[in-house]
Amino acid sequence: MLVGARQVVTCRGPARPRRGREMAEVEVLGDAAVLIDGDHFAWVGGRQDAPKADRVVEVSGVIFPGFIDCHTHGVFGAPRLDDHERRALGVDYKAIAAAGGGILQSVRDVRSRPEAELAALTRARLGALLARGATTIEVKSGYGLELEAELKQLRVIRQLAGELPATLIPTFLGAHEVAPEYRGGGNRAAYVRLICEEMIPAVAREGLARCCDVFCEPGVFSAAESRQILTAAARHGLAVKLHADELEGSGGAELAVELGALSADHLAAISDAGIRALAGSATVAVLLPATMIFLGKRSQAPARRLIEAGAAVALATDFNPGTSPTLSLPLVMALGVSQLGLRHAEVVTAVTINAAAALGLAADRGQIAPGCVADLVIAAVDDWREVAYWMGTDVVSAVWTGGSACPA
Ligand code: NIG
Ligand code: FE
Repeated sequence: MLVGARQVVTCRGPARPRRGREMAEVEVLGDAAVLIDGDHFAWVGGRQDAPKADRVVEVSGVIFPGFIDCHTHGVFGAPRLDDHERRALGVDYKAIAAAGGGILQSVRDVRSRPEAELAALTRARLGALLARGATTIEVKSGYGLELEAELKQLRVIRQLAGELPATLIPTFLGAHEVAPEYRGGGNRAAYVRLICEEMIPAVAREGLARCCDVFCEPGVFSAAESRQILTAAARHGLAVKLHADELEGSGGAELAVELGALSADHLAAISDAGIRALAGSATVAVLLPATMIFLGKRSQAPARRLIEAGAAVALATDFNPGTSPTLSLPLVMALGVSQLGLRHAEVVTAVTINAAAALGLAADRGQIAPGCVADLVIAAVDDWREVAYWMGTDVVSAVWTGGSACPA
């Protein structure tokens, strides 16, 4: 049993995403106790009412449910410093990609790197995310763009899922970009066919991914191609996610809803119709404010309009070498307040129960409540709102997963 925390933020409530006004309704208990039984929470409430426990651990600071990073591209090789520098000189993301930088540069790197090396790089990076509170992390492939290199990335995720004390949710993103071998001429249709007919069946057969994602964006994959790929993925039992309306927009949010996707992610260029579609659906709107900041864009996804329309909003790092090299969900929470106009309670909801829902895990994650997986974060602060205040500072002092403290 954990006692002594100044506050316990439980996020307790129904096992489903919180939408609209519910996002701001977060339970904060003073002088509380959290009882863990094995790898699950057994009880939470006022310390004086707590049942007897075999072991009592005194903690300080504020306890939160484990944070959930529901969108990362965590398996890659080198950082993309040349892209970063070119962007500082005024060249934009898509122009850099068209000139052979961007995603394809990471693809050349991942294809040529041995699996063990990729695993070592990824282990350190995901470990850093975990140390900053991300107890469940979605990790995408998408820097292979050929069967063997995509499988290599997914095997790295599977290996690290067995080594790190975090829960990793693997997502197949073979449709992150058209593979270099298939660009130009009429070949892109052949790449889409390769994804649908060879890659998705192989990934599903080996049980290497839980979800399938597509970068649906003008100049990358069209809405029609995305529909084709995600329909094939669903047929093979994969849950569906979509990079939707990130830079220019192409009806991605509407498509995500049409396909019953777990989430539609990015949404900086979402249309009014897209907002209405998400608000009327179970698809979670995953917003990634660090990405727009890192790209030097002044625009952000219309978080307030999404919430006011009644959508469920989650936040994530989008950790990747091209557009968001941050390993801190608390930083993203601070950006949620300062850039998206979210309230502190809304950003806490956005990285706990709503992020769980974006991964299909709302049944038993994202809350400190009896029956939920005992993942929690302790922040060295006096007031729970500080977790989204000390921008870029490490306030997380301890992380527990499955009922045990993670080694520091
Ligand atoms: O989420 N939008 C596509 N994928 C990433 C960027 C990946 C990269 O540039 O390497 C994103 O922003
Ligand atoms: Fe992304």
